Amino acid sequence: MQLDGKRIIVTGGAQGIGAAIVRAYVEAGATVSCMDLQEEQGRARTAEASAAGPGTATFYKLNVTDRSEVDARFAEASADMGGLDVMVNVAGVQSFVDVANVDETSYRRLFDINVLGTMNTNGSAFSIMKASGGNIINFGSRSGLTSELDNAVYGATKGAVHTWTRSVAQEWGPSGVRVNAVLPYVVTPMYEKFREAMSPDDLAKHDEEVRSSIPLGGKFGDPARDLAPVMVFLASDATRYITGQMFPVDGGLISVR
Ligand SMILES: NC(=O)c1ccc[n+]([C@@H]2O[C@H](COP(=O)([O-])OP(=O)(O)OC[C@H]3O[C@@H](n4cnc5c(N)ncnc54)[C@H](O)[C@@H]3O)[C@@H](O)[C@H]2O)c1
Repeated sequence: MQLDGKRIIVTGGAQGIGAAIVRAYVEAGATVSCMDLQEEQGRARTAEASAAGPGTATFYKLNVTDRSEVDARFAEASADMGGLDVMVNVAGVQSFVDVANVDETSYRRLFDINVLGTMNTNGSAFSIMKASGGNIINFGSRSGLTSELDNAVYGATKGAVHTWTRSVAQEWGPSGVRVNAVLPYVVTPMYEKFREAMSPDDLAKHDEEVRSSIPLGGKFGDPARDLAPVMVFLASDATRYITGQMFPVDGGLISVR
């Protein structure tokens, strides 16, 4: 088993990418703590993953925007698992915002969950991992590298995640804590909502852009088939000499330098 003996926290594990990662980590033999705001769905997905085995998964309710809550849940989960080797912060939100009239509610929600949530979970994991080393994986986005219509606020949050990841990787490397980020392009409830929020014209343009700009298949990937195996690799010791990197898993849409 590639992740046998690994103790892993995954935030945002109730659906989409996070749920696929929890399943894949349990399948690879890990002990997983799945955390999310959505309690009922989180418990159901975690129980299914754990029943399939051979590893195990336990659910904890968590809001990543509250540092004291993050510290308490991470300490509880680490004690339950007997330590913490890997922390994957998947929790995130996207919404379109009129860039000429950015409203404070949208701004706060996007920055609190995507940016402060990354800083809270990373800081809390680092304080547990710094004694014996560890592995942190964040979620960035193509939106943080380039322009997308009405998506500049979300893009700015993901640009912040990229800079944060590169920066703390340098700072925490000497303590043996690695920090990398994944930039995915896969079909999830977030992507379905992203599509629903577009006008028919914008949706047609989006579909055409996806068809012509993703060299591998011309469409978004599948979280379980296309992303989860990469996440297993990134959580494993095979990546012990990699830190501060952005990993696009998007069929070749972007190339990060
Ligand atoms: N789907 C894509 O193609 C894509 C593209 C680029 C980046 N991303 C990023 O990948 C990550 C996962 O995306 P997804 O598509 O699976 O999204 P999703 O909306 O399907 O799932 C996100 C999960 O995060 C949880 N969450 C939201 N706010 C939270 C909070 N405050 N505390 C704890 N949990 C919270 C939600 O309850 C949900 O279960 C996000 O960070 C997203 O920005 C996704």
